Amino acid sequence: MYKMVLTPNHILLETALPVLQFDKKLKQVIKDMSETLDATSDPVGVGLAAPQVGISKRIFLVKPKEDGLTGVFINPEIVEESQEEEIPSFTNSEKVEAHKPKKSKKKLLEGCLSVPNIWGNVSRKKEVKLSWQDENGKKHSKKFKGFPAVIVQHELDHLNGILFIEHLSFLKKKLILNKLIKEKKYYKGYL
Ligand code: CO
Repeated sequence: MYKMVLTPNHILLETALPVLQFDKKLKQVIKDMSETLDATSDPVGVGLAAPQVGISKRIFLVKPKEDGLTGVFINPEIVEESQEEEIPSFTNSEKVEAHKPKKSKKKLLEGCLSVPNIWGNVSRKKEVKLSWQDENGKKHSKKFKGFPAVIVQHELDHLNGILFIEHLSFLKKKLILNKLIKEKKYYKGYL
């Protein structure tokens, strides 16, 4: 199990490197990441990218349901996306945001395990087609929409050093930045 990397930490702002070796070491990293994701409780994580556990590699996990299987995405790429963007809305029974659902006028509030206690509406592509490799190096591709589309976009951003707060409106971002400065979680180059 890993310790969660929180802001401010430069690894969260770096472009992660591709995975080239599909070996035992990779499988161990995935296992440890999965345990780390399962151990999150407040909020319960539904996705985790390798940079969030201090590993700058292009790997993320998704687990939309607490009792569901963990999906492993290695070297993921968006190969197609819808033009249309929206802030997804959700119902109570759905877990429709990157880390934990919170209700705000039925619009999704996105959060991140690496940016505790910060939530915001993020406009995302409605549909994305992702290609990736599994832990054995086998290639896959699939279209995602709704909740899973939000998670994969949020997690893929992590591999490119982008935090969800960068997608927020100027005003909201400014408010968050002020909060982070007050809590000494800000450093130059962040946001
Ligand atoms: Co995140």
